[in-house]
Amino acid sequence: MRKMNVAIVGATGAVGTQMIKMLENSSLPLGTVKFLASKRSAGKQLSFKGETQTIEELVPDSFDQIDLALFSAGGGISAKFAPEAVKRGAVVVDNTSHFRMDPTVPLVVPEVNPEALREHHGIIANPNCSTIQMMVALEPIRQALGLKRVIVSTYQAVSGAGNLAIEELAQQTRDFAAEKPLAEWEASILPASGDKKHYPLAFNALPQIDVFAEGGYTNEEWKMINETKKIMGDDTIKVSATCVRIPVMSGHSESVYIETEKTATVAEIQELIANAPGAVLEDDPSQQIYPQALNSVGKKETFVGRIRKDPDEETGVHLWVVSDNLLKGAAWNSVQIAETMYEMNLFE
Ligand code: A2P
Repeated sequence: MRKMNVAIVGATGAVGTQMIKMLENSSLPLGTVKFLASKRSAGKQLSFKGETQTIEELVPDSFDQIDLALFSAGGGISAKFAPEAVKRGAVVVDNTSHFRMDPTVPLVVPEVNPEALREHHGIIANPNCSTIQMMVALEPIRQALGLKRVIVSTYQAVSGAGNLAIEELAQQTRDFAAEKPLAEWEASILPASGDKKHYPLAFNALPQIDVFAEGGYTNEEWKMINETKKIMGDDTIKVSATCVRIPVMSGHSESVYIETEKTATVAEIQELIANAPGAVLEDDPSQQIYPQALNSVGKKETFVGRIRKDPDEETGVHLWVVSDNLLKGAAWNSVQIAETMYEMNLFE
């Protein structure tokens, strides 16, 4: 195939910045690469493969001659501009939640359901960050043992909420160090920028990610529930989630409890993870080896450890699952989707 022209929408954001890095090291045959953001950033410069590039304002015509558009500038921008990109002949990989549950849009983790890419109509959705890493860890277990139920609690990093949230946490941390009274700390973004109240995240744990929805669950929790069933192609898997934001910069951690159809030993499950694509086994309690958020930063893999049988339930297994939310949870999964499509000749 001829070279591919690529656009990154939201190129200045927490995820967009990582998309640029992933693209720099990608196997895709790149032609021109456009960096798109809001009017505020237009004219600013950034470096790509050692060359200076200028950021452009996103407009519908930005997608003329573009083959692949990676979107991460919020759901509203995707809703408005992804169809414009498709109309102009681009394939869109969208990192927002806007199209994820649309039955005509594939929702893809390349290690789990790459074949779904063949059904695309121009837009492919990148799943929620917490869902992606859980899928990498659970798919090999599901294939070997069957999966009946998942109960997950997340410990999610602030970078998933974007650059402004990162800055807010950094400022609160400085305020703490300066012994500024808690009442004077600025909090205007978390737990959800669109919600009524805002709380500090520094030295805190907030059991709310996104806004509250049906049944007392937040949207983030519903994303994990619904997206798991769609990606695994099985509505019968029981899934429940509690999503918590913690003051970690990058790297989401998850305590995952599963019940399988068949029983297996810890050693057998460890072997499944060790042989699974995209997963790394880090599980040796005798040496205090287990996945840690700090160690996951900058890596594309999903790290799995603390694998142990439930004391009372024969088919119950606990796991600790960690990955860089900006990479496998967002930028890398998006670029990996594009690379997989290229390998499957889906850009022809
Ligand atoms: P900008 O930096 O120009 O505001 P984050 O997820 O870190 O908050 O980043 C959000 C990304 O979405 C940024 O790149 C931001 O660009 C981009 N963005 C926000 N609003 C718009 C818009 N109206 N048009 C294009 N890009 C936008």
